[in-house]
Amino acid sequence: MTRGRFITFEGIDGAGKTTQIDALEKHLREHGIEVVRSREPGGTPVGEKIREMLLNDEMTVRTETLLFFAGRAEHVETKIKPALERGAWVLSDRFADATYAYQVGGKGFSSEETEALEAWTLKGFAPDMTVLFDLSPETAEKRRHVRAGEEDRFERENKAFFEAVRAAYLDRAERNAERFLTVNAGDTPEAIAAVIKEGVARWL
Ligand code: TMP
Repeated sequence: MTRGRFITFEGIDGAGKTTQIDALEKHLREHGIEVVRSREPGGTPVGEKIREMLLNDEMTVRTETLLFFAGRAEHVETKIKPALERGAWVLSDRFADATYAYQVGGKGFSSEETEALEAWTLKGFAPDMTVLFDLSPETAEKRRHVRAGEEDRFERENKAFFEAVRAAYLDRAERNAERFLTVNAGDTPEAIAAVIKEGVARWL
C-alpha cells in the first residue's frame, strides 16, 4: 500500500477554496482514491471545540497561536497520519502556513517562536502540496459579503490586515516553492481546477 498524499489549501478568507476542494475530491474519487476532507481550525472533535473558541473569544495572539498548534497536533496524530498510512489522500482547508500568514504576518507574532512551536509539534511533518489561492483583499471582501452568515473574529479584520496576510502567504510560497502551487483566485473556477489537476497528475 502506498502512502496517500497530504494536500492543503490556503488563502485569505473569500478566495474560493471550497469549490476547488470539492472539484479535486471528485477528480480523485474518479481515480479510485479514498479522500479524507478536513479543515483547520477543526477537523477532529477536540479541534472543533478549539475552533469555537478561536473564532469567537477574545484572547492574546500567543494564546491563539498555541491553540492553533494544539488543534493541529490532535489533527495530525489522530486523523491525517492514520489516513495517509492507509493510502487515503487528505485534503485540508488550511494548515500550518495559515499560522505564519495570520498570526505572524497579520498580527506580528514572532516567526522564531512559531518555527519553534512548529518543530516541536509537527517534527518536520509537512504537506506534500499546498495550493495557495492568491486574491486581492478588495475582491475577497466582496465575495465574502455575497456569502451568507455572520463574520467571525478573523473576517472582521481590516484591509491592511488582509494585505499583510496575503503578503506573508506569497513570501512563504516563494520560500517553499517545491511544495507550493500558487493560483490566481480571480481566474475562472474551470481554469483553476485545471491547474490543480495538473499539479497532482504526477502522483496519479
Ligand atoms: P475558516 O473560516 O477558513 O475555516 O478559518 C477560520 C479563520 O481562522 C480564518 O479567518 C483563518 C484563521 N486561521 C488563523 O488565523 N490561523 C491558523 O493557523 C488557521 C488554520 C486559521
